[in-house]
Amino acid sequence: MNVIINVENVRKTYKMGDNVVKAVDGVSLSVFEGEYLVIMGPSGSGKTTLMHLMGCLDKPDSGEIYLSGQRVSKLNDRDLAKVRNKMIGFVFQQFNLLPRLTALENVELPMIYAGVPRAVRRKRAKELLTMVGLAERMEHRPTQLSGGQMQRVAIARALANEPQIILADEPTGNLDSKSGEEILKIFSDLHSDGLTMIVVTHDPEVAENGERVIHMRDGKIVSQEVRASVGNA
Ligand SMILES: Nc1ncnc2c1ncn2[C@@H]1O[C@H](COP(=O)(O)OP(=O)(O)O)[C@@H](O)[C@H]1O
Ligand SMILES: [Mg+2]
Repeated sequence: MNVIINVENVRKTYKMGDNVVKAVDGVSLSVFEGEYLVIMGPSGSGKTTLMHLMGCLDKPDSGEIYLSGQRVSKLNDRDLAKVRNKMIGFVFQQFNLLPRLTALENVELPMIYAGVPRAVRRKRAKELLTMVGLAERMEHRPTQLSGGQMQRVAIARALANEPQIILADEPTGNLDSKSGEEILKIFSDLHSDGLTMIVVTHDPEVAENGERVIHMRDGKIVSQEVRASVGNA
C-alpha cells in the first residue's frame, strides 16, 4: 500500500492582533494511494487549514509534507502551484466557478493554464461534463445552473488535468440532500476508478462513504475509524 500524502508533525498558526490561533497543531497523517479518506470535526477545528496544506494551497509553519515522496513543505509558490495543478483537483463548498464563463469554459480553464491545445481541451471538457451528466448544459453559465449542477461542473473542472487526488471541502454543504447524494455517487465512482479521495465534512452521512474517517478537534487529530480495507485492494 503506497503512501501518496505524508504529513509529519505539521503546524499552522494564525495571528490576529494579540490572538494566536493554532489552526493545525502538530498533525501527522499518511494518506494511502486510492483510499477514500474523510476528515470530520466541528467548525474551527482546522479541517480546511489541513486540507489547504495537503493540497499545496498553503505552507506549514513547521513540519513536513510529502506528495508522492516529493517534499512540498519548503517549495516556493511557483513550484507549489506546479505540483498542485498536476496532482490535485479541488472541490469547494461554494463551487468557485467563474460566473462569466460557460460550464465548458470553466472546465477548460485549468487545461489552458496547463498548456493543453484547444481542440484537446475542448474534447476532454465535453467528455468530463458528459460524465457528470451535464451534456445538455455545457453552454450554460453558473447562474443558469442549480447548485448540484454547479458542483458537478466543479468536479469536471477538478478532473481536467487528470489529478491523482481529489480534495473536497464540504462539497455538499450548500446542496439539498438529493443533489448531495448525486455528488457522493460521483465521488464513489471516482474512487472506484482509482482516485485518492479526501473529503472534509461535518455531515455524518457524507462520512459514511469513507473507508477511513479522521476526527479533528482544536487543530489536532483526536481519533480515527477504519471502516473498510483501505485502497481498492
Ligand atoms: N486566514 C485565517 N486567518 C486567521 N485565522 C484563520 C484563518 N483561517 C482559519 N483561521 C482560524 O483557524 C482555525 C481553524 O479554521 P479552519 O481550518 O477553517 O477550520 P474548519 O475548516 O474545521 O472550520 C479557526 O479558529 C479559524 O478561525
Ligand atoms: Mg472549513
